[in-house]
Amino acid sequence: MDDLKAKYLGQIADAGDEDALEAIRLAAVGKKGEVALKMRELGKMTPEERQVAGPALNALKDEINSALSAKKSALADAALDERLRTEWLDVTLPARDRRQGSIHPVSQASEELTAIFAELGFSVAEGPRIETDWHNFDALNIPSHHPARAEMDTFYMHRTEGDNRPPHVLRTHTSPVQIRSMELQGAPIRVICPGGVYRADYDQTHTPMFHQVEGLAIDKDISMANLKWVLEEFVKAFFEVDGVELRFRASHFPFTEPSAEVDIRCSWEGGQLKIGEGDDWLEILGSGMVHPKVIAAGGIDPEVYQGFAFGIGIDRLAMLKYGIPDLRAFFDSDLRWLRHYGFAALDMPNLHGGLSR
Ligand code: DAH
Repeated sequence: MDDLKAKYLGQIADAGDEDALEAIRLAAVGKKGEVALKMRELGKMTPEERQVAGPALNALKDEINSALSAKKSALADAALDERLRTEWLDVTLPARDRRQGSIHPVSQASEELTAIFAELGFSVAEGPRIETDWHNFDALNIPSHHPARAEMDTFYMHRTEGDNRPPHVLRTHTSPVQIRSMELQGAPIRVICPGGVYRADYDQTHTPMFHQVEGLAIDKDISMANLKWVLEEFVKAFFEVDGVELRFRASHFPFTEPSAEVDIRCSWEGGQLKIGEGDDWLEILGSGMVHPKVIAAGGIDPEVYQGFAFGIGIDRLAMLKYGIPDLRAFFDSDLRWLRHYGFAALDMPNLHGGLSR
């Protein structure tokens, strides 16, 4: 029995795979295996011999069986380890080249104008892009049937059935942030509100999403002269030319009275746009003295306070400053375009360091 034990435990230890193990099992403890044959011999033994040999044979059988199953799981573990080693997959991405990312011209222009207005004492305010009909229109003195609503090509949000309130809109301008800022801060106030706005429009100079910056200054003694000075300072600093000339043209907006559109002197010689020289004028913004109804809608007393407001197209400023001809390309996410027109990520614009260097 000791020979049998040594033989099979040795074979089990040496078995290289499950098939070999199964062959050993059949030969040792299978129905016709060596241990079974020995069991058969028990019948020929005396009862005394049988009492010793029987339990010993059973113990041998158990021992071989447990050696078999231990070896079996060791083989399975080894097989799994081998699979894990060979079926290895690298899911990490290689590190990016440090200079691959760039700042989008709209972000760059926003940072630049924020730096300029910060020096002039304006802080930045934000509002939601999905806006209530009231903030986007009514509070800005554009009531329901005002023609200005139709001109804006507004995107309306879905309304749930049975809801009779006017639907929310994708804000068509940053002017509603005037109202939200007045509601939040009261007077006096000096904020700019840069951000995305939406209108159903698409051609070389219009995209359904674009960017504006709203300006609002409310205090007890603010006049049109302050507006003019602020805008001139801004344009000089933004375009980085001293001799800019602005032209204020009488205009009409529901939320300002009086209202003015502002043009900047420029030349288009040889298809190249130059700011501050030449005989052409280019419209860059709308502005005016905030209408008393708008001040009241913001929760401020128009008998005590007055102020100016303006709205500028940021994308348009970026196109002009950086000579980018087509607005649609701004939002195509074409990496070649972004590399060409983008800015280095770590050069934060500020007035003393130079805005766009
Ligand atoms: N909200 C106007 C627009 O999107 C721009 C504008 C004009 C804003 C005059 C103003 C303003 O604050 O005073 O066309």
